[in-house]
Parts: sequence; C-alpha cells; structure tokens
Amino acid sequence: QIIVQANTFIATVLPIIESGATPIFVDVDKLTGTIDVVKVRRALTKKTRAIIPVHLFGYPAPILELSKLLSLSKPSSPLWIIEDAAQAQGTTIGDKKAGSFGVLSAFSFYPGKNLGAYGDGGAVTTNSKALVEEIKILRNVGQKTKYVHTRLGTNSRLDTIQAAILLVKLKHLHAWNKKRIAIANAYREALAGCGDIITPPPTPPGAKAIYHQFVIRTQKRNPLMKFLEKRGIHCGIHYPSPLHLTPALRFLGYKRGDFPVAEERARTMLSLPMFPELDDNEIAFVTSSIRTFFRH
Ligand SMILES: Cc1ncc(COP(=O)(O)O)c(C=O)c1O
Repeated sequence: QIIVQANTFIATVLPIIESGATPIFVDVDKLTGTIDVVKVRRALTKKTRAIIPVHLFGYPAPILELSKLLSLSKPSSPLWIIEDAAQAQGTTIGDKKAGSFGVLSAFSFYPGKNLGAYGDGGAVTTNSKALVEEIKILRNVGQKTKYVHTRLGTNSRLDTIQAAILLVKLKHLHAWNKKRIAIANAYREALAGCGDIITPPPTPPGAKAIYHQFVIRTQKRNPLMKFLEKRGIHCGIHYPSPLHLTPALRFLGYKRGDFPVAEERARTMLSLPMFPELDDNEIAFVTSSIRTFFRH
C-alpha cells in the first residue's frame, strides 16, 4: 500500500499501480491542498510501504511533519517517503530543496513546468547509491551492460537534446521562480477582499513556494472562468476531478464523499495565468477583470 493524496495529477498514481502496489487515497489539508498528515496517520497499516507527498503547485508538502510521523513506525516495516516534486523545482523547506527529503523524489521537465524541456523529460533524485544504480538500469530497458537485461525496465532515458536545453534553462530557474513569487504577491494584494476569493496561503516560515500555479478558490468558479475567457484570459483547473472519482481509477472502489476537501477544491479551484513573463499591465488586467466580475 502506498498512501497518496486524492487531488493530484494522475501521473502520481499510475506508477503505483504499474508496480503492482495499491494506492491508498487520503484527503488534503483545507488550507494548503497538500496531503493531510492526520489522515495519513489514520491510513497507516502494516501493509503501508510508502507515502508520496506532492508539492502541489510548487507549495511545500508537510515533509517534516511526515518524517516525524514515520519515525514512529517500526523499523521492521520501513516506510519510505517518495516525493512528487514534479511541480517543485526550487521549492524549499528550511535550507533544503524539495526533492532532497525523500528516499526517492521525482521531477518533471514537461514543457509547462517551471523548468521545462522542449519535449517530455524528467529526473529521479536519491541519496542512495544502490538506488541510483537500480534506476539507471530500470530507465535503460533493464540493462546495465548492453543486451544483458537483468530487470524488466522501460525506455525512459532523457534525450540528450532535452538535457542540453535543460542545462541552459537551469541557469535561469532561480530568476524565473523569483518572478513567479513577485507575480503571486501582486495577485494576492490585488485580490484581497475581492468577492469570496481565497488566495493560496502564505508559505510556512522558512519555506518557499515557487508558484507553478497560482490557484484561487471561489464558489463562483465556473461563471468566473467563462467571464475571464471572454476577455481573453485563459485559466486552468488543476484538477477538475479528484483521482478517486476519475473513471480509469474507479476499480479502486472509492465513491463520492470519501474525500470532501479534495472534492470541494475540485469544484472551486481556478488557476490564474502564471508565467515569469507576465507583466504588470497583464496582472492588472486579470485582477481588475476579476473585480469587475464580482461587482456584477
Ligand atoms: C504532480 C505531478 N506529478 C507527476 C507528473 C508527471 O510528470 P511527467 O508528465 O513529466 O511524466 C506531473 C506533470 O505532468 C505532475 O504535475
């Protein structure tokens, strides 16, 4: 069993199923949308082998709280933290980066990510030399030596051309993240007290979010989204269905009402435009449009 939050991208969960394990969904924290540590504690069983916290939208997952919880578990049933840091290139907790806490962590370089390639790509990080060797074999069709296949691996090598592009873009990541943070602050300030809007919570002391998405919540999400679309402001919903209600995962046996916070968030979340190149006029256009919507 691998514990994972109900509202994340499906790619967090597919590898669990592919590996023959069972995903155990838990609800998320009302304020942050990251995994609810109290719910994790309740979901732990003798069969639990790992927990996958997701740094959703680049907001730090409660890694330190989870680590404390896991140190209570018996050494005979080792529990791993595997971080889904797909959306968190640059997120920090204390003086450490997201992706440096888990036994394993996964990053995505999908083009839309804060550090995106020009096609698909990703990386796994770990401090374990043994796991590095294992993963190198798994990503290379299960071979260490050519045509000697010791594992049922896949073809998951990062293309050299993508690696080259990422090396160039990596130098800019910090500056781009800083711009996203500035845009988030501007959004927050301009939307304070507007309608029933709830803006993302400030990051906990000593942590840094990198705003892969800037996600507001409102009961008027759908009409607001339509209104903005008409003005040429394209917003997203991440994600419209929590995973326990997603058709492909119905076989897991969950039902509506199982994770009320995740369900409520799926109904009310709206991702505003967020990319480092957004300028002051564009931010003002987005926020004044939202204010106009709530005045009518
Ligand atoms: C939270 C999360 N996990 C996993 C993934 C999967 O990453 P990729 O598309 O690079 O396989 C993504 C992004 O697409 C994601 O947003």
